[in-house]
Amino acid sequence: DAIKKGAYYYFEKPVDRARLLIIIERAIENLRLRESHRLLSEKLFPGAAPIIGEHPSIREIKRILPRVARSDAVILLTGESGTGKEVIARNVHSMSGRSAAPFLAVNCASLPDTLFESELFGHERGAFTGAHRREIGLFEAASGGTLFLDEIAEVKLDIQAKLLRALQEREIRRVGGKENITIDVRIVAATNRDLEEAVKAGRFRADLFYRLNILKLALPPLRDRLSDIPELAEYFLAKHGEKGVPPVREITRESMRLMLRYAWPGNVRELASVIERAVVLAEEGRITPDVLPPEIRDEPAGHVSHLFPLPPAGVDFEKVEESLLRQAVERSGGVHTRGAELLRMSYKTYVYRLKKFGIIPA
Ligand SMILES: Nc1ncnc2c1ncn2[C@@H]1O[C@H](COP(=O)(O)OP(=O)(O)O)[C@@H](O)[C@H]1O
Ligand SMILES: [Mg+2]
Repeated sequence: DAIKKGAYYYFEKPVDRARLLIIIERAIENLRLRESHRLLSEKLFPGAAPIIGEHPSIREIKRILPRVARSDAVILLTGESGTGKEVIARNVHSMSGRSAAPFLAVNCASLPDTLFESELFGHERGAFTGAHRREIGLFEAASGGTLFLDEIAEVKLDIQAKLLRALQEREIRRVGGKENITIDVRIVAATNRDLEEAVKAGRFRADLFYRLNILKLALPPLRDRLSDIPELAEYFLAKHGEKGVPPVREITRESMRLMLRYAWPGNVRELASVIERAVVLAEEGRITPDVLPPEIRDEPAGHVSHLFPLPPAGVDFEKVEESLLRQAVERSGGVHTRGAELLRMSYKTYVYRLKKFGIIPA
């Protein structure tokens, strides 16, 4: 009984000390093997790649992830391409009780409808031309594990209905099949589109949306967490730097400055490939600006002459205005004549704007 509960061994009384020592040694050896097996499988399956970043949004995700992972709830990951949705999905899987079973990923935008349906649910022999034998789909293949549905917004309406059934009833039917098959998979879905918008436009079923939108984790674009760039860049440098000749172990201050002012439309994926490329081109074991791509190296002309350089990704003008107003209120200690002076405004305009942003009661 004790063995069933996880005991390594059990003894009949009276206990033989020599035997006891051997058993303990074996138990330790066993643990050591398990540990080295764990390290090996982390190398073999990149699933356990760390989530880098200390921006509050990322920290919060990392904080709740272990709890979220242990539940079997559907997770919806949102964020632009390259923001780390798949990294999170793989971490969810490896932190979950399902980590010994497969993690399978499918891009919902990559296959034509009919093939996609059979990819997900499998098909029976003769279900369509070319279906020479029965094949199981991803829902069955991922049994006990996790299925990552990437770009979920691209799923066509008729397949959405079948997905909803799979999520709701935990049952699927193979294409051309007659029996229902019970499934045991955890779903993690991802999208770089606004699903609510797609629901409003009639392109996405509202009921499926509600089924998916139980635990939503939003990944910010890299330009909204520039403070993570140094750590991410160092991480990718540690990963790829040794491939350089000589090994590249440093990013110069000027290169870092340029990377911090770039908008990163391709997000973390773009940063990773910029570093990987720079390592190949670097000459003295350092990433200097000349090995950065031109769009990062070449600063927008004439920016020096601007009072407030407009960041490459642009700004929310109203937010800038509100922020300046709040700073003026704070610095003037709420003395509006003084605050108005700080912003070179008339008293009337100043108070009007404070009210407009709700900084003071209207
Ligand atoms: N927080 C992160 N920490 C470490 N690597 C990351 C992080 N976010 C993204 N990456 C890396 O960036 C690349 C793109 O990430 P991915 O998860 O595929 O993005 P998405 O699925 O949102 O398109 C991958 O190579 C991944 O390893
Ligand atoms: Mg992706």
